[in-house]
Amino acid sequence: MPEISERIDASVVKIKSTIGSFEPTIGLILGSGLGNLAEEIISPVKIKYKEIGFPVSTVEGHAGQLVLGELQGKKVIAMQGRSHFYEGHSLEEITLPVRVMKMLGVKTVIITNAAGGVNKAFKPGDLMLLNDHINFSGHNPLRGKNLDEFGARFPDLTYCYDKELIKLAGVLAKAQNCPMHEGVYCFSSGPSYETPAEVNALRMLGVSAVGMSTVPEAIAAVHSGMKVLGISCITNMAAGVLDQKLDHAEVIETCARVNEKFIKLLKGIIGELS
Ligand code: HPA
Repeated sequence: MPEISERIDASVVKIKSTIGSFEPTIGLILGSGLGNLAEEIISPVKIKYKEIGFPVSTVEGHAGQLVLGELQGKKVIAMQGRSHFYEGHSLEEITLPVRVMKMLGVKTVIITNAAGGVNKAFKPGDLMLLNDHINFSGHNPLRGKNLDEFGARFPDLTYCYDKELIKLAGVLAKAQNCPMHEGVYCFSSGPSYETPAEVNALRMLGVSAVGMSTVPEAIAAVHSGMKVLGISCITNMAAGVLDQKLDHAEVIETCARVNEKFIKLLKGIIGELS
């Protein structure tokens, strides 16, 4: 396997040979059930992940392709589906698409995910803006040789989730009557859900939602100087909050139920970005 920087360069060359001079400024990482937003992209160019060396997801409902084009008058690059650490990919691989976005000209990345509600005041179907995270996985995507062309060896994460973007998303959510929370997201490696004891511990640590994605991509994006907005769809209450077992079917079902309002909000946000 070639070095990651060579793989990034090779992906960029392949994508550029398909999109020509098109330069996306907004990157969208569309998690579970949100892939249909990419179907609304105007004059879309679709590129399968396997053609550009991106890790391919095995999870159902992830199309596994890039869609580039215009959305709300903005030039976007959307990941219709993403890979996860629990599938066996390294974090270096999972963040390869974020690095590629940077090289294509992206300035802002919007990362969405499905998450379990740790905060007992949340309900399945609620949305949450990430204002910080806890990396519970013990892994970091920037481990290994630093890619100096992207950023510093020891990047600062004090403002990982952009405050202005959080404010903008909050204002738009309110205008759309879309109930919205703000809180700390915890990245758990999965694929098993957390235990009730872990969820209780996370609550004590100040976590509001827990999921199996987003943090690696956010770290890589901030490392390379891009702004990040993270939004969770609370698909279920995390383990032990309710006296019942967790079921992936509930995650899918909630994503489907929330899809319309989530997409409306994302389109509103994209429309307001510079
Ligand atoms: N835990 C971790 N990841 C998740 C959950 C959860 O409860 N729900 C959806 N993704």
